[in-house]
Amino acid sequence: MRNDTFMRTYSPRQEALARAAAQQQAAASRPASTANPSDILAQYLIKQEPYYRPVADEVELYEAAYSVRMPIMLKGPTGCGKTRFVEYMAWRLGKPLITVACNEDMTASDLVGRFLLDAGGTRWQDGPLAVAARYGAICYLDEVVEARQDTTVVIHPLTDARRMLPLEKKGELIEAHPDFQIVISYNPGYQSLMKDLKQSTKQRFGALDFNYPAHDIEAEIVAHESGVSLEVAKNLVHIGERARNLKGHGLDEGLSTRMLIYAGSLIAKGVAPLAACRVALVRPITDDPDMRDALDSAVTTYF
Ligand SMILES: Nc1ncnc2c1ncn2[C@@H]1O[C@H](COP(=O)(O)OP(=O)(O)OP(=O)(O)O)[C@@H](O)[C@H]1O
Ligand SMILES: [Mg+2]
Repeated sequence: MRNDTFMRTYSPRQEALARAAAQQQAAASRPASTANPSDILAQYLIKQEPYYRPVADEVELYEAAYSVRMPIMLKGPTGCGKTRFVEYMAWRLGKPLITVACNEDMTASDLVGRFLLDAGGTRWQDGPLAVAARYGAICYLDEVVEARQDTTVVIHPLTDARRMLPLEKKGELIEAHPDFQIVISYNPGYQSLMKDLKQSTKQRFGALDFNYPAHDIEAEIVAHESGVSLEVAKNLVHIGERARNLKGHGLDEGLSTRMLIYAGSLIAKGVAPLAACRVALVRPITDDPDMRDALDSAVTTYF
């Protein structure tokens, strides 16, 4: 095996995504001022159609929302297709997509930008939100509740009628480019009172609900993404559905589509289905011995 981080990922599709993410990161760390706008945005264009299987009318709704540049919130449990959907929509609309994974150490400067010191003195570097607003990209703030509330409020002037981003430290007011749109993702199950979006943030967004797809659609997705047959994929989805019924009865979270794809990918690589399900489905989701037994027996029902 080559000593290359990308070769350790589980599927060609994931490998391609990891490469694209690494390229985006490298592009983001390049100084904005020396490149021209179309060069900057070219890095964020999605060149190949991402595989996305529509579940309901989310594609049409998103297109309508984009046409009026409504900020959009994608709500739903982990691993149900939110990130894939926004990648697909950006590709479909032909707009660059700048993704920011939010975390609690993130500051407003990480989004907006900061002055950097280099040999020539100080120079301003736009953050990802400023790049998106200035040049016209879709800015996707993933898991936005992870960011502190004082960080989140920097998106407020961009998400109301003003569509502006003040760069206070620089003394500049960016008027958002006509193509700019902001999208956030949000997992409604995870919020505590301390960690939730303020109403004044929530009420600036339209929201699309995501959930695990219906049986046949989910099987189609699992088969496509992992390379297993539709029959095997259907069995995996049955196991997923059984486990989802245990949410709130010993399991904190349902088994995601992503986990089913992991299991399928192992099976497609020749791993025995029982072992694949143990590794990819049962062991990660619970440490409780009784719950593990219950899930293991659900697996043996189908394999
Ligand atoms: N409707 C769908 N069409 C195509 N692929 C899908 C769909 N739903 C889920 N997937 C698959 O499931 C995987 C996980 O989805 P994704 O990464 O988009 O989840 P997410 O909702 O963004 O999760 P998280 O909240 O953890 O970031 C994707 O890589 C994709 O392979
Ligand atoms: Mg995601």
